[in-house]
Amino acid sequence: MRAFGHLGAWWRCATLLSLRLMFFLPAGLPVRSQGDSQSDNKVMDNVTVRQGETVFLSCAQGDFVTHTAWLNRSSILYAGEDKWSVDPRVSLVTLNQEEFSIKIENVDMTDEGQYICAVQTSSKPRTTSVHIIVQVPPKIMSLSKDIVVNEGSNVTLMCSASGKPEPSVTWKLLSPSGHGLSSDDEYLEIPAITRQRAGMYECTAVNEVSTDVQTVELTVNYAPSVVEGKDVGVTLGQRGVLQCEADAVPQADFEWYRDDRRIFNGFDGIEIEDDGALSKLTFFNVSEADYGNYTCVAINKLGAANTSIVLYEIIEPTSSTLLQGPGAVQDGNSATTGTHTPACLLLMVALQLLMRF
Ligand SMILES: *[C@@H]1O[C@H](CO)[C@@H](O)[C@H](O)[C@H]1NC(C)=O
Ligand SMILES: *[C@@H]1O[C@H](CO)[C@@H](O)[C@H](O)[C@H]1NC(C)=O
Ligand SMILES: *[C@@H]1O[C@H](CO)[C@@H](O)[C@H](O)[C@H]1NC(C)=O
Ligand SMILES: *[C@@H]1O[C@H](CO)[C@@H](O)[C@H](O)[C@H]1NC(C)=O
Ligand SMILES: *[C@@H]1O[C@H](CO)[C@@H](O)[C@H](O)[C@H]1NC(C)=O
Ligand SMILES: *[C@@H]1O[C@H](CO)[C@@H](O)[C@H](O)[C@H]1NC(C)=O
Repeated sequence: MRAFGHLGAWWRCATLLSLRLMFFLPAGLPVRSQGDSQSDNKVMDNVTVRQGETVFLSCAQGDFVTHTAWLNRSSILYAGEDKWSVDPRVSLVTLNQEEFSIKIENVDMTDEGQYICAVQTSSKPRTTSVHIIVQVPPKIMSLSKDIVVNEGSNVTLMCSASGKPEPSVTWKLLSPSGHGLSSDDEYLEIPAITRQRAGMYECTAVNEVSTDVQTVELTVNYAPSVVEGKDVGVTLGQRGVLQCEADAVPQADFEWYRDDRRIFNGFDGIEIEDDGALSKLTFFNVSEADYGNYTCVAINKLGAANTSIVLYEIIEPTSSTLLQGPGAVQDGNSATTGTHTPACLLLMVALQLLMRF
C-alpha cells in the first residue's frame, strides 16, 4: 500500500499534467499533425442512459500500455485497477490487454458530462472521450388542486413537470361530451366557465422516456333550474304524488308550499322525500281539502327556482263510463247523449204518430 501510495501520487501527478497538456490547451490549437490527432484523441458517440440505469464505459488498450485511467471530467475514477473514486456506484468491469471498462450504476443527472479514458503507451499518450447524456422520466411537480368555482368565473389550471429532455405538457377535459377543450401548455385558461366544462381535467407530461399523468377535478356551481311542473289529477281517497326535479350544483334543497303556507314532512297524511335532484310530495289518502295549488322551491347558495303544480280532482268513474274504456271520464256527458240519440229520435217519431190520431 505504501509503495502504491508513492506510485499513485506520481501517477496522479503525471496524469493531471498530461491532462493539462491534452485537454486544457485552447481548443483551437492544432495538435501536431492531422494523422496524430485522429489516432490519439478519439471522441466516441454520445451515450444516452436513463436515470437509475447502469452505464458501461469501455476503451481499447494495446500492447505497450504502461498506465491507463478513466476520468470523470478532471477527477480520476480508476487508475488501472485502483479505484480512486469514493463513489460506490463506480466499479471495474474489465482490465486486460484489449480493454479497460468500468461501470456506473444507478446513474443520476449529475453524472452527465464528459468521461475520458487516458492511456499511456511507451511512445505517446492517447485519449478516448465519451459524453454521457442522462435522461429522466417526466414527473409532474406542481399541479392545480381540485377546485370549485361559480359559473362565469375565469379559471386557470396549472401543471408543471420536470424531466430530461424537457417534457411537453398538455391538458384535456375527460368529460364524455368532451367539448374539445384542450391545451398544449402548462396553463389551461378557461374564460367565463360554463357548467358543461365541469369535470376531470387531465394533465399529461411526455418525453422520450415516459409519461406522467395527473387529474384535477373542476366543479362548477350554478343556481337551480326546475323542470316545469305537470298538474296531477287524483281521485278522492287515492294516493297522490307531486314531483319536482331540479338541476343545480351544489344539489338543491327543496321546499314545498300550499299557496303561501309551507308544508313540512310529517304533516297529517303527507310525506316529503328528497332524493338527489328529485323531491316527492306524497298524499297517502287525498281528501277534498288537499286539492289546490302547490309550489316547489329549489334552493342552493347561488339562487332559487320554483314551479307550481295543481292537484285536481278526478271524478270516480261510473260503471257505465268504465265499460267505454279510457277517455270516458272527460267525455262522459257527450258519450251519454250520443248513445241515447237513436232512442230519443224513436220516441219523437212515436209521439208524432200518436198525435196524428
Ligand atoms: C453530444 O452531446 C453534447 C452535449 O449535449 C452535444 O453538444 C454534442 O453535439 C453531442 N454530440 C453528438 C455526436 O451527438
Ligand atoms: C462526475 O462528476 C460530477 C461533478 O463533479 C459528480 O457530480 C458526479 O457524481 C460524478 N459522477 C461519477 C460517476 O463519478
Ligand atoms: C374574466 O376575464 C375577462 C377578460 O379578461 C374580464 O373582463 C372579466 O372581468 C373576468 N371575469 C371575472 C369574474 O373575473
Ligand atoms: C281515506 O280517508 C277517508 C276519510 O278520512 C277514509 O274514510 C278512508 O277510509 C281513507 N282511505 C284509506 C285507504 O285510508
Ligand atoms: C299557483 O300558485 C303560483 C304561485 O302562487 C301562481 O303563480 C300560479 O299562477 C298558481 N297556479 C294556478 C293554476 O292557480
Ligand atoms: C317563484 O319564482 C318567481 C320568479 O321566477 C318569483 O317571483 C317568486 O317569488 C317565486 N316564488 C316563491 C314561492 O319562491
